[in-house]
Amino acid sequence: MMNNKLMIKNAAELVTCSGFKAKHGKEMSELHIIEDGAVVVEDGIIKAVGKTEDILKKYDEKDFQAIDASNKAVLPGFVDSHTHFVFGGYRAEEFSWRLRGDSYMDIMQRGGGIVNTVKATREASFEELMETGLKRLDSMLSFGVTTVEGKSGYGLDLETEIKQLKVMDELNKIHPLDIVKTFMGAHATPVEYKGRTDDYVEFMIEKVMPEIAKQNLAEFSDVFCEKNVFSIEQTRRIQEKAKELGFKIKLHADEIVQFGGAELAAELGAVSADHLLQVSDKGIEDMAKSGVVATLLPCTAFSLRESFAPGRKMIDNGCAVALASDFNPGSCFTENISLVIALATLQMNIRIEEAITAITINAAAALDRADEIGSLDPGKKGDILILEFPSYKFIPYHIGVSTVEKVIKNGKIVFDKNLGGKIC
Ligand code: NIG
Ligand code: FE
Repeated sequence: MMNNKLMIKNAAELVTCSGFKAKHGKEMSELHIIEDGAVVVEDGIIKAVGKTEDILKKYDEKDFQAIDASNKAVLPGFVDSHTHFVFGGYRAEEFSWRLRGDSYMDIMQRGGGIVNTVKATREASFEELMETGLKRLDSMLSFGVTTVEGKSGYGLDLETEIKQLKVMDELNKIHPLDIVKTFMGAHATPVEYKGRTDDYVEFMIEKVMPEIAKQNLAEFSDVFCEKNVFSIEQTRRIQEKAKELGFKIKLHADEIVQFGGAELAAELGAVSADHLLQVSDKGIEDMAKSGVVATLLPCTAFSLRESFAPGRKMIDNGCAVALASDFNPGSCFTENISLVIALATLQMNIRIEEAITAITINAAAALDRADEIGSLDPGKKGDILILEFPSYKFIPYHIGVSTVEKVIKNGKIVFDKNLGGKIC
């Protein structure tokens, strides 16, 4: 038996999600399932996918670490393409205020919210951020996440923004999950710039972003484009500069009010626009035309008690929709992908097949990685989930509970529920 050669056979459903680019509209409901399927991984890369009997004709099982997936569904690893998982402190108190009727924006405007976490993150040591970050990644892994995006934006000064991004670099080295980094200096205006948001934008553009680019600390640039946070004009300035510096673009768009964020994302050629609770019809049309991945975060709407984004309408109008957790200490403190999928299907009228596409190949596209992850296709990374149940339909059906039995990352088993969790 060789460890770098893995075969999974007899899968009740091999849900391949086959494809190398984002799926739009109707394409999202086709999962390309192989019944009684098998997959072969060598040196971390998928070599073959097919019916078990065909695979066994071509490959000798004795050369492989073989896993019998009888009565189990097998899927690509989930991609969580929108999180803010490196932060200090917590905001449970604010959560309780929201239950009493305060809104997220009320709390932010009276000096709470993101800037509270900024204070705690500035005070936290590198080691403390590593320790909490590691636990959060372990939890994500247990829900079947094999690639996660993480944003800075709880520093809002050069030193702490760099600290957050370097913590992600270190975590990436020691944890099986792959981490994709996004710079989000424009997440809020820090207290030292209170009432001077234009000056803060200037500081970002002149000092912080060039340094982040020079040290190659992030692949994407994101902005919280929202009324009373960063205006369309401020967002455009920051993201034009980001493009000049070589960052790919994401936007927090149209979350609380309709603001033209989706339209701006299309204009900028963004890879994704995220949240979109209040998106306009024109915004939907622009995203569909320009190929911006519409990333929906149903656990955030749930946690903020807002109405859900019009996901059904986006798919019906030809958008490529992705789903993500938005794990963060304020608006959505959960890494639970099962709950994301349950809410998408039960509350947004998204079909289970569409939701699976949205958390695999379309989420990979939201990270500009549809050519290397997000499906079970030869040539892609061996990032694979084995469920405890025979069908992908159990994922939302078993509401909010992880149905993942084993997680395979780059062809190695890194999580096994039967062996107590993470095993590497
Ligand atoms: O995606 N909306 C803005 N940013 C985060 C929340 C961050 C926080 O509240 O700490 C989000 O929901
Ligand atoms: Fe977010």
